Amino acid sequence: MIETQGLTKRFGDLTAVNSVTLGVGEGEVFGLLGPNGAGKTTTMRMLSCLVSKSEGMATVGGYDIGRASDAEKIRGLIGVLPESAGLYEDLSARKNVEYYGKIHGVAQNRRDANIERLLKRLGLWDQRDTAVGSFSKGTKQKVAIARALVHDPKVVFLDEPTANLDPESSKTIRDVILELKRDGRTVFFNTHNLDEAQRVCDRVGIIKGRLLAVDSPARLGNLERHRRTAFQLERLDGDTVAAVKRARGGGVEARGDTLYVDVEDPLRDNPEIVQVLTKAGGRVVYVTDLSSGLEAAYLRLVGESR
Ligand SMILES: Nc1ncnc2c1ncn2[C@@H]1O[C@H](COP(=O)(O)OP(=O)(O)OP(=O)(O)O)[C@@H](O)[C@H]1O
Ligand SMILES: [Mg+2]
Repeated sequence: MIETQGLTKRFGDLTAVNSVTLGVGEGEVFGLLGPNGAGKTTTMRMLSCLVSKSEGMATVGGYDIGRASDAEKIRGLIGVLPESAGLYEDLSARKNVEYYGKIHGVAQNRRDANIERLLKRLGLWDQRDTAVGSFSKGTKQKVAIARALVHDPKVVFLDEPTANLDPESSKTIRDVILELKRDGRTVFFNTHNLDEAQRVCDRVGIIKGRLLAVDSPARLGNLERHRRTAFQLERLDGDTVAAVKRARGGGVEARGDTLYVDVEDPLRDNPEIVQVLTKAGGRVVYVTDLSSGLEAAYLRLVGESR
């Protein structure tokens, strides 16, 4: 659904996006991760025909972003949540969304139904007739998300969709993303929230000008060696700690009733550590994986590219 080949954007001397080659399939949820200034927004803006490319090529739904006649087709195919919401402050939530529906030529019946469904889904229905200028940042963001979806786009671009949202609203947006996927739509989004990426993305790309890696969050995480597990006991005493230290050699730290252990292979090491703990008379209450594998992968890749 989205294909890029050596896609590049320069601003003067600065190469913001450097030869990105990438494919996102129909119905896939793809997350683009990377530090501030890594080129995430610029990539999304090129793919949604808001800014021209400098080099390379890209297609969305088979249409070429570099051809003016195709760009029109792409605009009809996609829904975009830009980095800053850019709503009409004097208009109500409903009117803002309706306006975009009209621009996209959505027939009135379907438009009204979609507006109602989206505003309800995003918890905005009670405020539908209030001017968005009086809304909080997060509420405006939700209006902008409704606006991006009003014409049932095949491809959805979301630039940091949960950036300003409270935990409950963030959860709603994650659920909406998964519902879009269930409908067979393609979702491409930028985020700094690795946990969120891990929860909803089929694959993620890590970018810093260049694309450093593309894979499923699980596979990226599994490549990482340094992981940590917390073992919380009913009561942790010195003898139990000593037993684990003997068994492990190093990388063991006790705090309160919890033992933090560096593990190389959780599938192999965690059960062994539980056994050592149990044998030493400890009763294990919780075993928790502390190292987000994806976070470790991200930090390593971004660090190495420095
Ligand atoms: N219109 C522009 N003119 C000049 N430079 C720009 C322009 N837009 C972006 N840049 C530069 O391109 C680089 C990439 O910016 P971009 O906004 O794509 O990063 P990002 O990954 O989205 O960052 P963030 O996580 O902070 O949103 C930055 O160095 C930025 O300053
Ligand atoms: Mg950005």
